[in-house]
Amino acid sequence: MAGLVPAIRVLNNSKVVDARHKAGHDKCKGKAMPGTPDYFRGKTIVITGAASGIGRAAALIFAREGANVVCADISETGVTETAEKVLETGAQALGLTIDVTRRAAVHDMIELALNDFGRIDFLFNSAGAALARKKFLDIDDDLLERTFDLNVKGTFYAMQAVLPHMLKNRFGVIVNVGSMAHRRGGPGTSVHYAAAKGAVVTMTMGVAREFAKDGIRCLSISPGPVDTAFAAAAATSPELKQRMLDDIPMGRFGTADEIGELVLFMCSDACPYMTADTVYVNGGGGWR
Ligand SMILES: NC(=O)c1ccc[n+]([C@@H]2O[C@H](COP(=O)([O-])OP(=O)(O)OC[C@H]3O[C@@H](n4cnc5c(N)ncnc54)[C@H](O)[C@@H]3O)[C@@H](O)[C@H]2O)c1
Repeated sequence: MAGLVPAIRVLNNSKVVDARHKAGHDKCKGKAMPGTPDYFRGKTIVITGAASGIGRAAALIFAREGANVVCADISETGVTETAEKVLETGAQALGLTIDVTRRAAVHDMIELALNDFGRIDFLFNSAGAALARKKFLDIDDDLLERTFDLNVKGTFYAMQAVLPHMLKNRFGVIVNVGSMAHRRGGPGTSVHYAAAKGAVVTMTMGVAREFAKDGIRCLSISPGPVDTAFAAAAATSPELKQRMLDDIPMGRFGTADEIGELVLFMCSDACPYMTADTVYVNGGGGWR
């Protein structure tokens, strides 16, 4: 495989092969999504940031629907766990250890997914983080660059890698993750992150509109605080957490599943006219 091969590993191929020999998806009961029955069965999604939080939740939701799930993340332990959980549902999984800030590795991720499943229908770019909380005047070049590399370039590379393939099929849905922060600017803690997420929301709109006549839809989700490792890192003290909660009319953080179900909806055939925009999911909180 060309590119940065050491950055990528195929996880436990034998388990993947075993799962393929299982008859049916017997644990995929309780489907929730409207639209064509079995719409997702046998279709393939690539998910970055799949080791944890929203990415993992989405992986398990797509597995429930019978999709093949390519789980990619920089965390080998976490991505292995997610891939194993996908396999337990009876769906097919491929786990890849990958750094999304490396273009060649992202390219290889798409190639390996195609080798295994022959086709990619959906891409969910969930890998992202604020990396550090800093006041604006303390944000240095290193933090700024790493934040843009992860959130902007990681999303950009994955879209560029998968689009030629989706264009050939004249079909594909890409879902990116923005943040409420892009509307609020991240004052006092995370202007670097808010700006990067603003770029993600803008890129999403551009890609959606450039390829709107080619069978491609591209959307983003801009969550408020969601109960994951990410939110735990942001709510560094009980007082700060309470302040965040006070800002949310529903009085609670969102759950990763609540975002994952939206990814499923966006990729489904229930919303074929929906593209370009970001959807805010925040319990009523935020910039209103
Ligand atoms: N949780 C929130 O409150 C919240 C709010 C708004 C937006 N978001 C966004 O949602 C997305 C998912 O975050 P989450 O809450 O699930 O957090 P999380 O920390 O649980 O998951 C993020 C995942 O990204 C992976 N990752 C980090 N750097 C990577 C790299 N270079 N290459 C590949 N993978 C990498 C991490 O290992 C982790 O598994 C992120 O883009 C985040 O910015 C989260």
